[in-house]
Amino acid sequence: MIITLIGYMGSGKSTTGKILAKTLGFEFIDLDHFIEEEFKTTIATIFEKEGELGFRKKERAALTEVLQKKNVVLSVGGGTPMYYNNIELINENSVSVYLRVALPELVKRLENNKAQRPLIAHIEKEELAEFIAKHLFERNLIYQQAHHTLAITNQTTLDILDRLLVLLKND
Ligand code: S3P
Repeated sequence: MIITLIGYMGSGKSTTGKILAKTLGFEFIDLDHFIEEEFKTTIATIFEKEGELGFRKKERAALTEVLQKKNVVLSVGGGTPMYYNNIELINENSVSVYLRVALPELVKRLENNKAQRPLIAHIEKEELAEFIAKHLFERNLIYQQAHHTLAITNQTTLDILDRLLVLLKND
């Protein structure tokens, strides 16, 4: 079984994914990290050298590879479900969960954490909220195709884990 966590940048996919994998005794894979290991470079460098399109091709190949594994909790990048037919691929080969974090919380988290994220690194602090609002609105249509949605407000990682386990048990 594979569980795929999707959601916008800063929604806690990796933090939640790690603890979920540990609880289930599954392997944890962060797709960005998997790509960085495979190509021995950083996501920012791939964007810089090959543009977003180059990155999306590598991301698609990595996603296809990881979805063939067994007993994995997979955290994908915020943009992964948007390209090719990645969302269908994810839904056909795993149980997908959208971690839906409200806009103000996302802005707060990303304000101090945008430098290593090529899509928002160049955006001024004052313009970040508007950018994220628009971007999230577009992406939500695809995120909502996940098998499950978990709305997250101020819960701790352990609270989120509990709710995820309930949701997966009732699957
Ligand atoms: C991206 C999100 C990033 C990373 C890349 C593009 C996006 O991952 O894949 O910078 O398009 O939203 P995180 O969601 O883990 O930050």
